Formats: sequence, structure tokens, C-alpha cells
Amino acid sequence: MDGLSRRRMLMAGGALGALGALGAASPAQARPAWTWAPSGSVAGKGAGLDPEWVWDDEADPVLAAVIERGEVAEVNKLLRQWTRNDQSLPAGLPPDLRDFMEQARQMPAWANKSKLAAAARFTTKKGIYTGALYGLGSGMMSTAIPREARAVYYSKGGADMKDRIAKTAQLGYDVGDLDAYQPRGGMIVTAVKTRLVHAAVRHLLPQSPGWTRSGDGQTIPISQADMMVTWHSLPTFVMRKLIDWRVPITSTESEGFLHVWQVTAHLMGIRDEYIPATWDDANAQAKQALDPVLASTPEGEELTDVLLDIVAELDAGLTRPLINAFARYTLGDRTGDLVGLDKEPFWQPLISAAWPLLVAFREGLIPLPLVPAGAWAVEEALRKFVLLFLSEGRGIHLEIPDANRPA
Ligand code: HEM
Repeated sequence: MDGLSRRRMLMAGGALGALGALGAASPAQARPAWTWAPSGSVAGKGAGLDPEWVWDDEADPVLAAVIERGEVAEVNKLLRQWTRNDQSLPAGLPPDLRDFMEQARQMPAWANKSKLAAAARFTTKKGIYTGALYGLGSGMMSTAIPREARAVYYSKGGADMKDRIAKTAQLGYDVGDLDAYQPRGGMIVTAVKTRLVHAAVRHLLPQSPGWTRSGDGQTIPISQADMMVTWHSLPTFVMRKLIDWRVPITSTESEGFLHVWQVTAHLMGIRDEYIPATWDDANAQAKQALDPVLASTPEGEELTDVLLDIVAELDAGLTRPLINAFARYTLGDRTGDLVGLDKEPFWQPLISAAWPLLVAFREGLIPLPLVPAGAWAVEEALRKFVLLFLSEGRGIHLEIPDANRPA
């Protein structure tokens, strides 16, 4: 998209924003003003622009050009060979894309090796919790984030949710991998490819009649504000739950976990001035950016249904009622209602009673006899789920879309 049309869209969006301020907008538009200060970011400073009106100036025009030139299939074919962080980019990529990617794959100057190593140790120790939380918490929550639900629903991947979940699981797997940001790891590749996919979606979705009709006045999807909303549904949500569940975490592990996600945010194209520097900064931003936007949409409810069926299909011994109940326990009743999770009178009380005891036992805080026998069925099912969920993502290729979901 050239500068002029982007500016025009911005102006159109600005006008709609003004309407919203006058109270003519739907509730989904009524977002709190962005007051989070860049002094709390990894950059420590910044222009303080509302990220609602910032997208990805570097990636977006390049991907729009690749799509317009009809090069997506060829680029996807070439990018299949690019899987390791230390690998050169494949020969034959269009020069504008190659130049952008060479830049985009650089680690930020503030990346800290020992914090990344602490993150890897953290996942080794706490992987069952983070895996269950990404899969049954963050994944479900995404359907209650209206803009994400609509973008996913109307994009190409919305038509094949199973494939999409496998691709998203790949990110969960790669980010927790011991080698994530090591030369032989794959997280730089995954993050940069995701950045390309998002830039393509920004070009494509405005051409989708379904998305345009359902939108809440946004003219280009996946703003930097939207990115931060989804980011908080991942690490911030996970850390909140680990604290709720009283999982013992050292400050080194907690900082490491934050750091691996800060680096990931940077590599996905989020500007440093919006990436929170500390958990306090992250929590303050999430309170403003994530919590108030959760809402139910028809697209989100449909996606929840598909997601639950797919999780049940994984056949990890998790029945759909148990999944409903664990997801509800994890997300809380408000979000559970928003995404349309059934209430489970048998499983819910069992999980609420058993899970804290299971955590306490796993963490060596209470002896075995205090754990009710039924709890092990839940633990075993979740452990299998996490293994299967994460293995879904292995060997999958992220592909740049060249079209929207067929109408
Ligand atoms: C694609 C992760 C934010 C909408 C993807 C993919 C990943 C991913 C791994 C590639 C898998 C695929 O192609 O299906 C993330 C992460 C985010 C984030 C980690 C933030 C931290 C968002 C936001 C939106 C969004 C905020 C919308 C508001 C989409 C869409 C696709 C996509 C529409 C393409 C689906 C397709 O057509 O294939 N994302 N995403 N994402 N994402 Fe995101």
C-alpha cells in the first residue's frame, strides 16, 4: 500500500474514531484512550503515538508488492527451505523482500543471552502449565478478542482451522524450545514468517466484503495495538495464571519468560516503544489494552466451536466436557461465557478442587496423600494434550496467504 492510500485510510479511520468518541459507535469500538507511556517500554522512550494507528511500515508495503506482482506461490516455495535461525535466506527471493528480511531477522541490540537461557530452563520445568495455558487458555481467549476472531475468520486460514491451529502451535512450541534463539533453533524464522503473514493479511483483508462489513470501523487490520492485545493473551495471561496457581517461579525464570516474549514481539514487528520492559509495565498495559476489549462475536463463537472439536479430536483422552471445564477454570467465567463455553456441573467443581492440589504436589509443597485420586485423570489427560498439541506444530510451514477466505 502506498503512503497516500495508507494516509487516506488513516484519515477515514480517524473520522470513524471521532464518531466513536461522540458515542455513535458500537461497544466494540469504545476502547479506552491509550495512555501507556513509552518510558515503560524496552526502548525506554518513544513518540507515544496511539498504536491503534500504527501498523508495520517496513513489512506492509513489501508484502503488498509481492502479492500484487503475483509472487506469493514462488516465495512460499522458496521459504520452505528456510527453517533455521543461522541459515542464509534462500536464493531467488524478490530483492525488496530479501532486503527487508535480512533486516527483520536481526536480533534486537537489547537481546540478552542469559535471560533467553533462563527462559528455556523455565519451559523445561514448567512446560505442562505453559502448554496447557497456551492451548486451552490463550487459544480460546483469542476467540473473545473481536478483532482477532474476525481477522482469523475472514482470512484464508479461517477456512481450515485445523491447519491454522497446527501453525499457531508451532509458535508455542518454538518459543519454548531450548534452542529457540540459538543458531540451530527456529524462532527467528517463525517470528519473521509470522510478520510476513500479518503484513499480507493487512493488504488482503480490506478487500474482504465479510471482514469489511463485520469490522468495527478499522480500515486496516492488525494494528500495533491489536498485536499487543494478542501478545498479552499469551505471556501476560500465562504469567497471571501461574501466579494465581501459586506455581513457584524464581525471578530469573520470570524475567527470562518475559524476555523471550519481548524478543519475539520485536521480531514480529512490534515497535520497541510498545513492548513492556517489566511485568509491572506489562500488567499495566494489559489492564488497558486486553481486559476491556474482550467481547463475544458471532465469528468468535463459531471459532470456539471449531477449536473445541479439534482439541477433542486430538484424542488425548480429553473429552469435550473436560476441555470445556478446564478452559473455563483457566479463563474464568466471564471469558468462558464470552467465548460460549458450556458450563460443566460435574467437571468444574472437580477441577477447581483438584488442580491447586495437583500443582502444590507437583511443586513439592504438599505430600501425595492430599491429592484426590480423580485429579490424576485430569493431569494425565492434560499432559497428553500438551504433548500432542505441541507436536502438531512440528515440521509445519507458515505460508504467506494470497487470498482471503472464500465467500
Ligand atoms: C497468522 C501468531 C497477532 C491475525 C498468524 C500465524 C502465527 C500468528 C504464528 C501464522 C499461522 C497461520 O498462518 O495461520 C500471532 C501472534 C500474535 C498475533 C504470536 C501476537 C503476539 C495477531 C493479531 C491478529 C492476527 C492481533 C488480528 C487482529 C492473524 C491472521 C493470520 C495470522 C488473520 C493469517 C491466517 C491465514 O490466513 O492463514 N499469527 N498473531 N494475529 N494472524 Fe496472527
